[in-house]
Amino acid sequence: MLREAIGLWFAPASRHARRLGYAAEAIAIEARQRRCRKQWAPHIEQCHQSVRAAVARCAKRDLVVVLGSGPLFDIPLAGLADGFSQVVLVDIFHSRAARRRAGGRPNLSLLEHDLLGLDRSDDLGQAAANLSVWRGLLGQPDLVISANLLTQLPLLPLDASTHGEDRHGSWADAVMRAHLADLASGPGVGCLISEWRRRWYDRTGAEIDRERPIDRLDLPAPQRSWNWTIAPPGELPRGESLILDVGAYHLGGPLSPAAE
Ligand SMILES: C[S@@+](CC[C@H](N)C(=O)[O-])C[C@H]1O[C@@H](n2cnc3c(N)ncnc32)[C@H](O)[C@@H]1O
Repeated sequence: MLREAIGLWFAPASRHARRLGYAAEAIAIEARQRRCRKQWAPHIEQCHQSVRAAVARCAKRDLVVVLGSGPLFDIPLAGLADGFSQVVLVDIFHSRAARRRAGGRPNLSLLEHDLLGLDRSDDLGQAAANLSVWRGLLGQPDLVISANLLTQLPLLPLDASTHGEDRHGSWADAVMRAHLADLASGPGVGCLISEWRRRWYDRTGAEIDRERPIDRLDLPAPQRSWNWTIAPPGELPRGESLILDVGAYHLGGPLSPAAE
């Protein structure tokens, strides 16, 4: 806890990323990954394999953009930097650890950018329309990776707003739909990695709740799907645990081959 508090105090975060809680969230995720390294390892490997499969679909390898790059656990960074002329990592907050991981490669850069544009205006009504603004800032990508970002997009803005909508409301859906439309319409092959189901368990291991956060969105079947024990017993109050079902989806770009 103390390490997290000190990390947050000295974090290289914008006032916006601090105010909405992105910096605190990122530092908490990094701390949980350190505690749950073993349980997270299969998920991280699946993410890396999914990104490699998407890279294999790219006819050209000039620019790859990673949206929601965050702590960079999900991203086979060295492979991307070796395989593409330019790698751009986009997130609202790049922690010190992420900056270190990304450092030392001349073809790799970090862009601090709120994909919803809420740093420029707090008008939630405009947010969905802002989801392709990043394309005007970067060149034409050959590959766009959305790395465990989709379901996160609406969460902190809704927590901070008095909009009165919940996480399953129409604003959240509109934002997630706009992100999918941006990925699907290109240019570039779109690689979406996102959880599609969440399952909670009590201390005895009995399932107590489940939800499917992206069921209302029009998504193709995932190319591959796996479980992520994001919160093993000990991480949540009352001895509960949480498992996410995560999928890798191919959007836009050349037609997808059969599921792997
Ligand atoms: C679950 S984390 C992704 C983990 C990351 N892909 C990795 O490899 O470790 C979600 C990320 O999305 C970012 N994010 C959420 N909303 C965003 C927004 N509006 N604009 C830019 N980044 C955002 C968060 O800051 C966070 O780093």
